Amino acid sequence: MSRPLLAVCGLTKRYRRGGKTIAAVDDVSFDIEPGETLALAGPSGSGKSTIARLLLRLIESDAGRIEFEGGDFLSLSGAALRARRARLQMVFQDPLAAFNPRATVARVLDDPLRIHGIATRSE
Ligand SMILES: Nc1ncnc2c1ncn2[C@@H]1O[C@H](COP(=O)(O)OP(=O)(O)O)[C@@H](O)[C@H]1O
Ligand SMILES: [Mg+2]
Repeated sequence: MSRPLLAVCGLTKRYRRGGKTIAAVDDVSFDIEPGETLALAGPSGSGKSTIARLLLRLIESDAGRIEFEGGDFLSLSGAALRARRARLQMVFQDPLAAFNPRATVARVLDDPLRIHGIATRSE
């Protein structure tokens, strides 16, 4: 039996806003096998984008486990987190908000290649 590529268990995220707590993601679990595609469908505000952000650790969860490629993704930090995170990719809904409007196209392409050691500046 193959091991899931991504195993999510009990993922929970609450936002606190103006004294109120919003349970954006409440005890969500799923596995994705290698080569499998998973679609999350739901109405606006049901927590889809929050799950995606949690999976990349753009935001931190309040509870739950994320295993990616067989390792505990939530315990990683620093260089180990950067290396593992380079294996995940988010395609943001709004490209105009996702890109830095002050950055040139060249820099947008160049930064990740250099930061992740995929190519040197001259390459
Ligand atoms: N940064 C935030 N601060 C406070 N509440 C948020 C934040 N981001 C999302 N929410 C709330 O969390 C819930 C889930 O939002 P979201 O993950 O964007 O849902 P979806 O992508 O399914 O539309 C909504 O009630 C939303 O208003
Ligand atoms: Mg969304």
